[in-house]
Amino acid sequence: MTDKFVSISAPRLGEAEEQLVLAVIRSGQLAQGPMVGRLEELAAAMAGTEYAVAVSNGTVALEAALEVAGIGPGDEVITTPFTFVATLNAILRRGAGVRFADITRDFVIDPAAVEASITPQTRAILPVHLYGLMADMEAIDTAARRYGLLIIEDAAQAHGAARNGRPAGGYGLGCFSFYATKNVTLGEGGMVTTSDPNLAERLRLLRNQGMRERYEYEAVGHNWRMTDVAAALAIPQMERLSEINRRRRENASRLTQLLTGIEQLETPHSPEGYVHAWHQYTVLLPPHADRDQVVRSLRTLGIGSGVYYPRLVWDYPPFREHPLVQLAPTPHAADASRRCLSLPIHPDLGLPELERVAQALRSALA
Ligand SMILES: Cc1ncc(COP(=O)(O)O)c(C=O)c1O
Repeated sequence: MTDKFVSISAPRLGEAEEQLVLAVIRSGQLAQGPMVGRLEELAAAMAGTEYAVAVSNGTVALEAALEVAGIGPGDEVITTPFTFVATLNAILRRGAGVRFADITRDFVIDPAAVEASITPQTRAILPVHLYGLMADMEAIDTAARRYGLLIIEDAAQAHGAARNGRPAGGYGLGCFSFYATKNVTLGEGGMVTTSDPNLAERLRLLRNQGMRERYEYEAVGHNWRMTDVAAALAIPQMERLSEINRRRRENASRLTQLLTGIEQLETPHSPEGYVHAWHQYTVLLPPHADRDQVVRSLRTLGIGSGVYYPRLVWDYPPFREHPLVQLAPTPHAADASRRCLSLPIHPDLGLPELERVAQALRSALA
């Protein structure tokens, strides 16, 4: 018998999701409806906020948050260069400038680098809780208060993450994604969390073509709505989120044990006081390893892996000379982009699969 391919992610949709989706189909209410409302309650509870507003995807969540925060031309936003392109696209789509601050060894934005990047134009700090680990939000919050800045969290990868008891998405405006590979997956979907009633109200208005009442337009709006079918897929997963994250956490710590002793391999850790959502388990390969070759070898051995992300987010033709993109040296981020490799830890995997992952990496690096 040949071993099954170990993929980097696998959606887990079962009976509970089937039943709820069926209920939506039978209800005849396919567009935004009561399921979206239920999902919003679960999301607000997850982020520890008063409100949550569901939108069509995580990129839209970021754009919506930036829009309701009033960020636009003439403003600057500080973010990390080690992120998915959606973070950068959302800022540039608002016509705002972007400055990049370097990351720490834990792949998240460094609060000291953030402070050093503040200019008179800075309006917001946009940390990304990469791989499911929150940035140091206490330090970021302190800096934001000191300089009068807004916080918009890119929590696309951080469902259920927390730091010192405060969940991701609970500072300012939190933006989540439910894309197909995320810890809670519904194909496409997003959420903005906030405790500010005015921002929540504005988000709801903009999401629905600027309408509160049918055909009464109060603002230039968008169609950012989520469907009830999508929300029905998410609800059972949100209800078992702590179980999903617990299994990821267990797999992460098993894999770390299995990888000990590989020379110059840096495994990820969850610092004291953090609840890591383990969206990805990302190692730094030894500096001289040929990552492409490692990925190929792993694949041959039946192990999927991912490179999130192979280059700094601005290092592509649309951004390199973009007038709104301000570059600064970010050596830690540059090193991470050269050496990062994510390995499978999703909840469907047990010890035998993790042993295969570790064994494959050892032989790929030998
Ligand atoms: C860090 C980060 N930000 C934003 C997004 C955008 O989310 P979506 O793909 O749902 O638009 C993603 C996910 O894809 C992400 O990983």
